[in-house]
Amino acid sequence: MFMLCMIFIHTLAIAQQKPQINSPEFFGVRPGKYFFYTIPVSGSRPMQINAGNLPKGVSYNKGNGIISGSVVEKGKFRIELSASNKSGSAKKYFTIVAGEQLALTPPMGWSSWYSYGRKAKEGDILKTAKLMKHYGLDQYGWSVLEIDDPWTNQPDDKDPVWEQLNHKVNKDVYQYHEGPNNLPDRKGSLRDGDGKLLPNQHYKNIEQTVKQIHDLGFKVGIYSSPGPLTCGGVAGSYGHELQDAQYFAKVGFDYLKYDWCSYGVFAKDNSEEEMMKPYTLMGDALKDQHRDIIFSLCQYGMGDVWKWGYKTGGQLWRTGDDVRDNWASVYAAFKKLADKSEYVQPGRWNDPDILQIGAVGAESREGNSNHLSKEEQRTVMSMWCLLSAPLFIGANVEHIDPFTLSLLTNNEVIAIDQDALGKAANLKLTLDNKVEVWTKELHDGRVAVGLLNPTGTEQSFDFQFSSVSANSAYDVRDLWQKRNLGRQLKSLPCKIPSHGILLITLKK
Ligand code: GLA
Repeated sequence: MFMLCMIFIHTLAIAQQKPQINSPEFFGVRPGKYFFYTIPVSGSRPMQINAGNLPKGVSYNKGNGIISGSVVEKGKFRIELSASNKSGSAKKYFTIVAGEQLALTPPMGWSSWYSYGRKAKEGDILKTAKLMKHYGLDQYGWSVLEIDDPWTNQPDDKDPVWEQLNHKVNKDVYQYHEGPNNLPDRKGSLRDGDGKLLPNQHYKNIEQTVKQIHDLGFKVGIYSSPGPLTCGGVAGSYGHELQDAQYFAKVGFDYLKYDWCSYGVFAKDNSEEEMMKPYTLMGDALKDQHRDIIFSLCQYGMGDVWKWGYKTGGQLWRTGDDVRDNWASVYAAFKKLADKSEYVQPGRWNDPDILQIGAVGAESREGNSNHLSKEEQRTVMSMWCLLSAPLFIGANVEHIDPFTLSLLTNNEVIAIDQDALGKAANLKLTLDNKVEVWTKELHDGRVAVGLLNPTGTEQSFDFQFSSVSANSAYDVRDLWQKRNLGRQLKSLPCKIPSHGILLITLKK
């Protein structure tokens, strides 16, 4: 009996986790604009969470853990966050920076594209929000649920949009009659008599859905195109940019992904000016709204968007084509960013696309699965974090398993992505033509290092610190294991599986 009691107490002790405040150091808002922020704290419930020293115009709701309002003046406001439960307490400073910049750390959330694909319905988005809450993903900073294509209507053959497109978009090429873009259940008028964008029948109660998701503490993202049609062949924003921005703000959206798609018909050439035009138009329109709306550019990296994306009012920009759940695709996505860290800083993020982690199969095939191995998925999460990439879960959360969850709830790994310095990793060197060494400076002087093995076989070697720095001894921590590897002199013995990564921090 005594033994049983001891085991029970021991199990309880393990299960009871003290609070860990997982917010980044900084959060950007625009003065005078409405914003809200759910304080992400992991640890056992019940828990008391508090926010003190708030700026004028901003309040904290203890009932739901949400800070909201609008900061009256420009400035930096240092807020004291605290949390306590039966096992302990935690404190952290969190600075609201009221100025021009939003997204001072890479946005984090979920997207409907690889989880429900073209079949997504508002009920799926709401269900996902509930499940994310259930799994405690909000406690780690996963905050935006992005409703991707196709949530508006698809035009019929006689719709004036085809004239507008000057018949340059071939309906068959667009897979409009046959192929994945033929969506009989989403046909209808694109706009009402006043030009207001119409959600399709699967998003009839969009305002209510957004409200319900907000009440759960999550933000909601929406999708459109600068062209008249999105990539999925439904209504985009061409010619209605300001009207749509106003509508998005009225519904309560907090984020817009703006996807080039059919806009190509209107771009005169590939000049930077022509590439920027449609994004500046929408970027300006979003800035005029009463609430902060993060602006995500999606044009697959055309015209070196990483050089000018921020000038349009955007905070993140896709750097390449759609990424898929196979090694060649994910490897190409992060390899492309090996030399583009100079364009990354707080408020400006290179976006290699949605995370290929968990059940992401919906868009390309039936069923929900992932063709990447566990090791490869762990590498994806690690590389996205090293690159300071926006983190959007591609998985269908209905099918989430403990492994996927473990990839999404390691706060030390996420903290690398959300680091306050906002630098992205560079590919520093390749050891013996085999293992790649990616390094990222962190705000506290540590360096995050990813030792990535892209080869087809396991690699064993001694990682010499002299290859990345003049310093010779480091305190090494393995972030996935959450384990100190001790003070290592000169080198670290490593064994890395094929397509795997060792993600460590080095502290002088
Ligand atoms: C493009 C984008 C994807 C997704 C689809 C939707 O392919 O790159 O991320 O939004 O359109 O149709």
